[in-house]
Amino acid sequence: MGGNELTSVSVSRFDHIVAPSPESGEGLSPNPARAIAVSFDGVGKTYDTNNGSVHALKGITVDVAQGSIFGIIGRSGAGKSSLLRTVNRLETATEGRVVVNGVDVRSLSDDGLVTFRRKVGMVFQHFNLLSAKTVWGNVALPLIVAGVPKLEIDERVADVLRLVGLEGKQDAYPSRLSGGQKQRVGIARALVNRPEILLCDEATSALDPETTLSILELLKDINRSLGITILLITHEMSVVREICDDVVVLESGQIAEAGKTWEIFSKPAHAATKALLKPLEPGIPRDIADRLASQREHFHQRALVELTYGGNGREGIKLQELARVVGPSVQIVQSVVDRIQGHAYGRMLLTTDADDRVALSRFEGLADNARILGYVRDDV
Ligand SMILES: Nc1ncnc2c1ncn2[C@@H]1O[C@H](COP(=O)(O)OP(=O)(O)OP(=O)(O)O)[C@@H](O)[C@H]1O
Ligand SMILES: [Mg+2]
Repeated sequence: MGGNELTSVSVSRFDHIVAPSPESGEGLSPNPARAIAVSFDGVGKTYDTNNGSVHALKGITVDVAQGSIFGIIGRSGAGKSSLLRTVNRLETATEGRVVVNGVDVRSLSDDGLVTFRRKVGMVFQHFNLLSAKTVWGNVALPLIVAGVPKLEIDERVADVLRLVGLEGKQDAYPSRLSGGQKQRVGIARALVNRPEILLCDEATSALDPETTLSILELLKDINRSLGITILLITHEMSVVREICDDVVVLESGQIAEAGKTWEIFSKPAHAATKALLKPLEPGIPRDIADRLASQREHFHQRALVELTYGGNGREGIKLQELARVVGPSVQIVQSVVDRIQGHAYGRMLLTTDADDRVALSRFEGLADNARILGYVRDDV
């Protein structure tokens, strides 16, 4: 039934995708004319339950650029999975449209949906592997279902297993694999149909930090070398910072904010984003926090000042400048400097004995934001 014919169409498209641009690369500033892979246009979702209806998504309008890694974040229950699952119509949007590579997913017939889903792979938090089947059996399954000839299946399974770093493991059963290896099988299975889009719902949440890193590297590789667009849900903000080009923050089913990851992370505007990013903030060192007074009680106390900067083309705070502007008494207590997608951002805590008002106005020229957190004794 047309299955093989469709498969061979997608093979040639895939070959075309693989061949060019390992450089599609930087992920920094996508070509403004870049095509849209997924367009959410006023998407709403209402679940009808025995206890009434749950309005899980409201008026979601945002585009996912082709070839990008797009993060979906938000508190538990914000609607992330609901949104992701409208892309392959595991959930149907009850309002608005979801357009994937130009196709309104609602317009797909049942047969059309089967073919469409081969182009949209999905990776799950708990891997969803069949324990009675080997690695080969799990990865080959979508191709067997699609009626692909055995020889081609062998070839394609071997290819994806090599890609995810599992060559030699094809005869192992899932129970013999580590969590990271299981997720590699899950990713191989999602890739074996040569999809154009990969949906990942908490793909690394069941893994330890080191394995998480290796899976992220793999996803990044897949995105860069195969040009596959990835939509990724995670609770780990360091994951988003690491690999997402763009991010949307959901709050109670609506968009709190959306944009380039470096912009959102360096200047979170919405309370929901600030709360999500809190764990990435260094905070005030405990011993200093314990001694922090809200008012200057006598002149031996120094002001504890927080400077933050991000985006704006600022490359950091020049120490020479700091000493020149504030004077030699300035003391750095803590400093975190990092880069997201090539943009520097950071936060510095320092103490100064300079007069409050003078100090703050001076600092403002050095960073995007300056504020006095309190006062500590001279001996910090
Ligand atoms: N099948 C369903 N039937 C009824 N309500 C649902 C269903 N799926 C999700 N919901 C509700 O819709 C809202 C959004 O759920 P969703 O699973 O999309 O959130 P989430 O952001 O993925 O949360 P988490 O981070 O906990 O996975 C929640 O209030 C949830 O209870
Ligand atoms: Mg979820």
